[in-house]
Amino acid sequence: MSASTPIRTLTPLAIRAQKGKTPLVCLTAYTTPIARLADATCDIVLVGDSVGMVLHGLPSTLGVTMDMMIMHGKAVMRGMDRALCVVDMPFGSYEESPAQAFRNASRLLAETGAAAVKLEGGVHMKETIAFLVARGVPVMGHIGLTPQAVNVLGGYRVQGRNEDAQRVMDDAHAVEEAGAFSIVLEKLPRNLGAAITTRLGIPTIGIGAGPECDGQILVIDDMLGLFAEFKPKFVKRYASLADNAATALATYAQEVRERSFPGQEHCFGDNA
Ligand code: KIV
Repeated sequence: MSASTPIRTLTPLAIRAQKGKTPLVCLTAYTTPIARLADATCDIVLVGDSVGMVLHGLPSTLGVTMDMMIMHGKAVMRGMDRALCVVDMPFGSYEESPAQAFRNASRLLAETGAAAVKLEGGVHMKETIAFLVARGVPVMGHIGLTPQAVNVLGGYRVQGRNEDAQRVMDDAHAVEEAGAFSIVLEKLPRNLGAAITTRLGIPTIGIGAGPECDGQILVIDDMLGLFAEFKPKFVKRYASLADNAATALATYAQEVRERSFPGQEHCFGDNA
């Protein structure tokens, strides 16, 4: 290892070993400045395909491309030197075959420098996850509400209610057996999130799946109040940055129109 090789203290194996210990703190990030902030406080920083909705104004994650994930993955990695960076595999980049998944997962790791990928799906993705892990690609699973399948699921609804719980439990076991180092549980009843967390030997990272999960993840723009169009019920807003920004912009506009904004008295004179 050269002197300039960054030390990443948090590897997929280290995350796996956190099972049952201190809860894992995870957030998404898409840009270098936000990645710097998240890296200082999080165990895992996810370059989520939510970037499509949050930063690109897309109506869902379906339009997100490999090029977008690589661009945002590189930006995030420039702000990181401590936490584990995981990059989402976008819709259409892995579902066709294990070989397609490996081709694109290896590109994501090689071109961004991130240490792991995340992909959606349970039982039907088991072979693909095992194929990737056997070839050196650490995989984080994602089950329950899988937003890339929104058109099949019929909306962003809670999954695993009542008799549907067994299907989600089977998905969880399939992802673990395939060799994933952790798994995101999205929008599940609390008791199902807790039961999966008890039964699996890998850490569960919840988003709307109850407090018993081994860790929690939020979309950073949601928790900072930056993405104001819509707020899922399970999201706590820790700040109201969109409101703060709107107030700042209104103040700026007023001061420009009144020729009164502070700072301009320091502008350069003729002899400066
Ligand atoms: O894309 C994303 O941000 C995600 C998280 C919500 C888990 O997948």
